[in-house]
Amino acid sequence: MENLSPRAGELEAIETASRDEISALQLERMKWTLTHAYENSPFYHKSFDELGAHPSDLKTLSDITKFPFTTKKDLRDTYPFGMFAVPRERLARIHASSGTTGKPTVVGYTARDVDTWASLVARSIRASGGRAGDLVHIAYGYGLFTGGLGAHYGAEKLGCTVVPVSGGMTERQVALIQDFKPRIIMVTPSYMLSILDEFRRQGLDPRESSLAVGIFGAEPWTNAMREEIEHAFDMHAVDIYGLSEVMGPGVASECVESKDGLHIWEDHFYPEIIDPVTGAALPDGEIGELVLTTLTKEGLPIIRYRTRDLTRLLPGTARSMRRMEKITGRSDDMMILRGVNVFPTQIEEQILKCRGLAPHFQIELTRSGRMDDMTVHVECTVEAADETARNASARELTHHVKSVIGVSTKVMVHSPGGVARSEGKAKRIVDNRPKE
Ligand code: DLL
Repeated sequence: MENLSPRAGELEAIETASRDEISALQLERMKWTLTHAYENSPFYHKSFDELGAHPSDLKTLSDITKFPFTTKKDLRDTYPFGMFAVPRERLARIHASSGTTGKPTVVGYTARDVDTWASLVARSIRASGGRAGDLVHIAYGYGLFTGGLGAHYGAEKLGCTVVPVSGGMTERQVALIQDFKPRIIMVTPSYMLSILDEFRRQGLDPRESSLAVGIFGAEPWTNAMREEIEHAFDMHAVDIYGLSEVMGPGVASECVESKDGLHIWEDHFYPEIIDPVTGAALPDGEIGELVLTTLTKEGLPIIRYRTRDLTRLLPGTARSMRRMEKITGRSDDMMILRGVNVFPTQIEEQILKCRGLAPHFQIELTRSGRMDDMTVHVECTVEAADETARNASARELTHHVKSVIGVSTKVMVHSPGGVARSEGKAKRIVDNRPKE
C-alpha cells in the first residue's frame, strides 16, 4: 500500500497547534456558543435557567459540567424546529435521522455551518490520504441522512472530482469503480463488504481495482474488519465518525499514517466522557459515553449532547488534538447475557478469526424463561460450504465466543448470501424477545 503521510505544509496550522492554543480557542468558542444558545434558543434558555446556570458561569473549559446535558429526546420533544437558534429562514439545509421509533430528529445548518462542515470533511479526507484532484466515489446514502451530502460537500471542498453514486445497486457500484477508476471510496464498512462480494461474483480481482483509500463510518467496525478489507482490496481503510445531531460525518477522523483511533476536530467540538449510568465526568483514558458540545455551530448549537457511543479519550499522536478510540458500540446495542455485557463488535472480531466464515452476520436475541439467548447467524465462505466444514466453523465460533467473551451462543452457518445485506448501516441485532 502507498505511503500517504502528509507532506510539509499540507496541514492547517490548528492541526499541529499546542494544547494551550487549542484550549484557548475552545474556551473562547465555548463562551460564544453558550451565549448564543442562551440568547437565541428558547429551549436552552429554559434548560439553563432550570439548572441555575448562566453563560457567564463558564470561566474554564471544565465549567461546562455546570450546564445541562442534551439528549435525543430533547430533539424529539421540540420536533421539528424547536431547538434552532436562528430563524428558519436563515437555515440553508435540513437533515433528519429516521431513528427506529417515533418522530425523526431534525437538524438545521446555516450557510456558514454547511461551509464549516465541508471544511471538516475535507480535513478528514486529507487525513485519510485524499488530495485535491482525486476521484471520490461516494456510496453513502444521499438525502436526509447526512452521510452522502456531508461527504459530497467535503470532497468538493478539498478539490476532488466527486461521483455521487449513493447507496444500492451494487452491480452498478462495481461497474462505476471499474470504469471511472476512483482512488477513494466513502461508504459504510458493511456495504463495502457487499461491494467486495460483487467484485468476486463478477470474477474481478478487488486487489487490482483503482481504490487506494476507503473512508468508512456511520456504524461500528473493528480493527479485524479493517485488516479484512485492507487485505481484500490492497487499500487503506480509515475510520470517520460523526452524528447528525452534532454535525454529520467529519466530527472525528483517523489519520492514515497512524490508524490509531480518531482525532476529534477539537477546534469545533468539545468532547467529554461520562459514566453512562450516573452522568459523572470520567478522566481521559477511561471508557464511557462520549458527550459532545459544538463550538461554532449557528443553526443548532448543541450543548453536552449524550451520543450513547462508548469510547475513551486518548492524547493526540499524528495531530495535537485528542483521539477517541474506535467505538466499541452504542449503549443501546449492549446485550446482557447471563450477566455478561456483549457488543456486536466483539462478535465481529471472533467471526473474523474463523477462516471458514464470511464477515456477514446478524445476532438474534430470544428468551427462554427469564434468560436471554443469543444466536449468531453468519455465512460460510464459498470454499467452506459443505456440511462438514460448516459444522466445524460453527463449533469454532462457539468456542471463541465462549472462551474470549465468556458467553454461550448458538451459531447458525448459512450459505453464501444467506444473511441480510445492508446497503447502508447494517442491522446487527434482531430482537425476537417477547415484548414486556
Ligand atoms: O452516521 C453520520 C456519518 C455518516 C458518520 C457517514 C460517518 C460517515 P447518524 O445517522 O446520525 O449520522 O448516526 C450517528 O452512527 O452516534 C454512532 O452510533 C454511529 N457512528 C457514526 N460513525 C461511526 C463510526 C451518521 N465511525 C451514529 N464508528 C453515531 C462507530 C459510528 N459508529
